[in-house]
Amino acid sequence: MNAIIQNQSLKAYNTFGIDVAANYFAGFNTVHELGEILDSAIFQQNKQLILGGGSNILFTKKIDGIVLHNQLKGISKTQISETEYHVSAAAGEVWHQLVLYAIANNLGGMENLSLIPGFVGASPMQNIGAYGVEIKDIFVSLKAMEIATGLIKTFTKEECFFGYRESFFKREGKGKFIILEVTFQLSTKHQLNTSYGAIEQELQKMKVQASIKTISDAVIAIRSSKLPNPKELGNAGSFFKNPTISMAHYETLKKQFIDLPGYPAGEESIKTAAGYLIEKCGLKGFRKEDAGVHQMQALVLVNYGAASGNQIFDLSSLVIEKVMNTFGIELEREVNII
Ligand code: FAD
Ligand code: EPU
Repeated sequence: MNAIIQNQSLKAYNTFGIDVAANYFAGFNTVHELGEILDSAIFQQNKQLILGGGSNILFTKKIDGIVLHNQLKGISKTQISETEYHVSAAAGEVWHQLVLYAIANNLGGMENLSLIPGFVGASPMQNIGAYGVEIKDIFVSLKAMEIATGLIKTFTKEECFFGYRESFFKREGKGKFIILEVTFQLSTKHQLNTSYGAIEQELQKMKVQASIKTISDAVIAIRSSKLPNPKELGNAGSFFKNPTISMAHYETLKKQFIDLPGYPAGEESIKTAAGYLIEKCGLKGFRKEDAGVHQMQALVLVNYGAASGNQIFDLSSLVIEKVMNTFGIELEREVNII
């Protein structure tokens, strides 16, 4: 069994770069090792947290418990028909490496999800999405170990209850399962999706035809131009979800804010852009000590170096308050607050 380390700093294990320690910390490379940790007294007598790439988490306090770091590796593919493949990836694989694997194998479906940080195992947690695609669109099933029993269960798409940045694992299943492996359906018959945002423009700028490879390149270029690289500036991507409001509320706001973005979200509701709302409150680029609202993307909160988790959290509360006062819209945090 891998050693259980005491008093481990988590600074290198979260993309906000928050410097907190965990009482206990253990990595696992195999399901067998994980089982051994689950059987240990330290695991059973302490609170537990499963950590992947730490790119969607904000630590606001010392972890008075055990952190399990997922290091399961392996990707395999099975052909299920002339054009369709099931690709299974272990939870500790880096998400973007899986996307590159798919492209290298001429398998389409996840190219729009290029460069999303983090590990495969966390991707179902919030049904990761970008540029018009969410993992629910290509998801087949996952295997997860139930912490209470040690049993490995298979979850179908229906059983995951995916929603916008939501799933069973972020709600009822929170803290109860360790996701071990995820299977996606990908295809050699590519259905290219260039409809979202600036993808078309970027392809034109690059002077290339759309393909799974060029769409991936375009998404990488767009993301790199506006999202901060966590290696240079601590962050966890969008800190808030984009809110859904009633059509009537949207129409009222539109009178004052004529360029308010709106995307259809059901019959009587509309999804608007939290980044726009935060910017209109005058908070884009706002900084208090080392906690800030990113200068290029107001939906992203950043750590300029020595911010504590609580300073970032307090800034998020200020953002929520200002957006509520200005627009009457309650923003919901997307990042997991620990
Ligand atoms: P972690 O931060 O390690 O964990 C997140 C949550 O999942 C925690 O609650 C953790 O306990 C739980 N968890 C992790 N692994 C497991 C497991 N194996 N079993 C059970 N629970 C587990 N997200 C998007 O959806 N779209 C984007 O476009 C996007 N862009 C981003 C851009 C940047 C610059 C950054 C920093 C983040 C972005 N994110 C985006 C958020 C983040 O990349 C995703 O949420 C990602 O899936 C998190 O993976 P992780 O391994 O880092 O998870
Ligand atoms: N906007 C502003 N000001 C800003 C930021 C955005 O006015 O500072 C406006 C833009 O002009 C645009 C709209 O808001 O009209 C949407 O902006 P953008 O395309 O940058 O996307 P987003 O809604 O801010 C969402 C996801 C991202 C995902 C991108 C691309 C959420 C919470 N965020 O961001 O996901 O990469 O779309 O699909 O849904 C994440 O979840 O961590 C994440 C980065």
